Amino acid sequence: MEHVDGKIVVITGASSGLGAETARELVKAGAKVALGARRKDRLDALVEELGTENALAYEVDVTDRVALQGFVDATKARFGRIDVMLHNAGLMPFAPLVENRHDEWDQCIDVNLKGVLYGLGAVLPIMKDQGAGQNIFVSSVAGHVCTPVGAVYSATKFGVRAIAESLRQEVKDWGGRVTVLSPGAIATELVQSIKSDEIRNGTAEFYDEAAITPDAFARGVIYAVSQPEDVDISEILMRPTVQTM
Ligand SMILES: NC(=O)c1ccc[n+]([C@@H]2O[C@H](COP(=O)([O-])OP(=O)(O)OC[C@H]3O[C@@H](n4cnc5c(N)ncnc54)[C@H](OP(=O)(O)O)[C@@H]3O)[C@@H](O)[C@H]2O)c1
Repeated sequence: MEHVDGKIVVITGASSGLGAETARELVKAGAKVALGARRKDRLDALVEELGTENALAYEVDVTDRVALQGFVDATKARFGRIDVMLHNAGLMPFAPLVENRHDEWDQCIDVNLKGVLYGLGAVLPIMKDQGAGQNIFVSSVAGHVCTPVGAVYSATKFGVRAIAESLRQEVKDWGGRVTVLSPGAIATELVQSIKSDEIRNGTAEFYDEAAITPDAFARGVIYAVSQPEDVDISEILMRPTVQTM
């Protein structure tokens, strides 16, 4: 596919869900992908599926800034450059604030926000040297609207949009491009990151009724990546047709 073929794409959170499916669609379109996450066995299986010539697997925890730099550097060393980074790793530990689940707050902020910043810190100097590069961020419908139990998750997803908008303005002068994808309910393992049994079961019920498949998200990424250099897709907000909120 034009403008996707031959591109080198770094993906965090590639061991399941949206990241894994996007890797498949990108490789089908001719890109090469660097897959990062903590579950290396999953990444290795995906590399086997996609072909070792098209993909590399790298065990990384995005809360570890040095490790994330290592992932980005290993990608550059293997493929020679980085055209796109999909900042996708995330979790969604819904819970009421009154429960004071501060460990979950910390983890959500560390992965969804600081992990994104660490990824950017690692890749931006490379992209700036190249005079081109596209950063694609994963916000959410919850990055546009707030709901009970979603305060911390929404705070991170609103935050991702703030980082992306500032970045968009900062990288104009050297040709950087910035896209935010904000999906609604998509069937992945994300609901399993909710620790409260009651809220997880309720959310799972909603997902069983409403969620669409991850290829919908992957098509959004392909749409953004497939644009010519002079087109910068800023935002894509997508929902299942049946999703009201
Ligand atoms: N599915 C939806 O309905 C939906 C809607 C809106 C936004 N999103 C966003 O989409 C993104 C992907 O989620 P998903 O739906 O695909 O869920 P998922 O299947 O649970 O995937 C989450 C991914 O993030 C990775 N991850 C989590 N913590 C990590 C860490 N500390 N270091 C490195 N990787 C980590 C996981 O890999 P390991 O566990 O192997 O590390 C996994 O690959 C998230 O940012 C989520 O907020 C999803």
